[in-house]
Amino acid sequence: MIFMDVKLSAFDKEYLDTIEGQDKIVFVESGTYYNILCDGKNAGVVGYVPAKFPDNAGFVQIVIDLHYRGKGIVAIAEGLISKKHNLKILYATINKSNVASLKAHTKSGFKTIDENKLIELREKKFLKEDEIRLEKKIV
Ligand SMILES: CC(C)(COP(=O)(O)OP(=O)(O)OC[C@H]1O[C@@H](n2cnc3c(N)ncnc32)[C@H](O)[C@@H]1OP(=O)(O)O)[C@@H](O)C(=O)NCCC(=O)NCCS
Repeated sequence: MIFMDVKLSAFDKEYLDTIEGQDKIVFVESGTYYNILCDGKNAGVVGYVPAKFPDNAGFVQIVIDLHYRGKGIVAIAEGLISKKHNLKILYATINKSNVASLKAHTKSGFKTIDENKLIELREKKFLKEDEIRLEKKIV
């Protein structure tokens, strides 16, 4: 792979709004977001919303600029944000039809949570029928 310098920098909501596919994430005011810089240029946005339980767990959200997709930046950017905020567990809620996101997160070590837990979350309406919850424990 060609070396890429990937960094997090100050979040710019106006930039997020320009990225194709940004409607696939639910931007929340209580979230912490960053622009992703790849070799000094804007390449996407990554953020997280803290989970109520356990401590040091967060729901990640990510959008990669069209021109920078397919380069593995998802794993790098989510690694950077978890390090910066000392996150030990990352959760991702992904629509079942979002193959790119499912693939990117699986490749970076996320695993679908237990089937019974999925059923429970759906019953409690924390998860829609067409969504899957994945998690990654950072060691
Ligand atoms: C999801 C997203 C962040 C993935 O970014 P990315 O830079 O392409 O991610 P990665 O490079 O790590 O991996 C993507 C993988 O999915 C594959 N992929 C991409 N689109 C695909 C598709 N339509 N069907 C099948 N596979 C696909 C890629 O080939 C790649 O797999 P590979 O490395 O085995 O070739 C990006 O597509 C995006 O920003 N989408 C819009 C926003 C979004 O959906 N965010 C996630 C919400 S849960």
